[in-house]
Amino acid sequence: MPQEHDQTRAENGIESLGDLRGKRVLVRSDLNVPLDGPAGNRTITDDGRIRASVPTISLLAEGGARVVVVAHLGRPKGKPDPAYSLAPVAERLGELLDRKVTFASDTVGESASATVEALADGEVAVLENVRFNSGETSEEDEVRAAFAAELAKLADAFVSDGFGVVHRKQASVYDIALRLPHAMGNLVAAELDVVRRLTADPERPYAVVLGGSKVSDKLGVIDNLLTKADKLLIGGGMVFTFLKALGNEVGESLLEEDQLDTCRDYLARAEESGVRIVLPTDIVIDTAFPSDDREPDPTVVPASGIPAGSLGLDIGPESAKAFAAELADARTVFWNGPMGVFETDAFAAGTRAVAEALTKISGLSVVGGGDSAAAVRLLGFDEAAFGHISTGGGASLEYLEGKDLPGIAVLER
Ligand code: 3PG
Ligand code: MG
Repeated sequence: MPQEHDQTRAENGIESLGDLRGKRVLVRSDLNVPLDGPAGNRTITDDGRIRASVPTISLLAEGGARVVVVAHLGRPKGKPDPAYSLAPVAERLGELLDRKVTFASDTVGESASATVEALADGEVAVLENVRFNSGETSEEDEVRAAFAAELAKLADAFVSDGFGVVHRKQASVYDIALRLPHAMGNLVAAELDVVRRLTADPERPYAVVLGGSKVSDKLGVIDNLLTKADKLLIGGGMVFTFLKALGNEVGESLLEEDQLDTCRDYLARAEESGVRIVLPTDIVIDTAFPSDDREPDPTVVPASGIPAGSLGLDIGPESAKAFAAELADARTVFWNGPMGVFETDAFAAGTRAVAEALTKISGLSVVGGGDSAAAVRLLGFDEAAFGHISTGGGASLEYLEGKDLPGIAVLER
């Protein structure tokens, strides 16, 4: 797959669409950002994905296109839900673009048609959350195709720039490209470059840090990395299934009972293939998950014995040091998933230590994924200190698994 993309990029870049002056261009962006607060008064807690979407949108607008941005927010159930409105996101996009951005209150209805109709050359509109339409995520090809046909009426060309969703076979990502002249946006092209470098011939040692809550989300990638990476550092909620698989007590920590055998199998295979799996030796615990109602009460215990009634919320200080030391000599690092509940200060040190270690890598350091990308920004790191901060968590993981990404494959047709 990787080699093909080199060619694809040259052939399928925005330039391949020719002169876009006066043309209506539908851009699929990934504007799925974390929000806080009640519906109607939502604030964006990390605008990284919006900022990453700006260059392609700007480029199209500067080229005189009438830019129609389509995107999703969260996982609404195929009908309008004010909690998932893209309105605050459209407003932020306007600020970042430093251009007027009009907002349509639906995706393919009267508001969308009127909004697109009113666009002058070089103007930008954002359509309401595409997932307010059940056709977007339907598993039935005909249903998605019918919705894509509606979307296609709004545009003369399609630019795929939402790297975070290219692993989804959805109407605005996949089916739309079957109906309109299409091109790969610059963000998708840049992101692909990086994941290609991680798979084609990574400079060694190649270390991968995995965190986040579930082992079951990472099965494919662990499988694949057991033959590719030199070491695999594991933290976050998923680590407790590994610790339990080794016979440790994990108290009330996150646990996927049905993955215990899988974890044992990974540990055995890693041993056989000479890949080091590094697990934390100490854990920061508390008696409850952090909430607004109580002060955190963090305690450090050995990873071998989390007491009943407590749960692990971060890797401990000894582990944080050890993880940083493991990363120090790496020439390629991919990190996906926080080490703990970084949103709460008391449980952020593990994630901070890993982020810090990545800033010191001489070689390629990649922060993959919504949560870890948001974490480095929320923890105040300078984004420029990392080789690359990806806008796609699931998408980059699926690429590393060796899977075909429908939103990329369709552009090659
Ligand atoms: C993400 O946040 O990972 C992307 O925006 C894709 O969202 P999804 O997992 O709901 O498809
Ligand atoms: Mg094509």
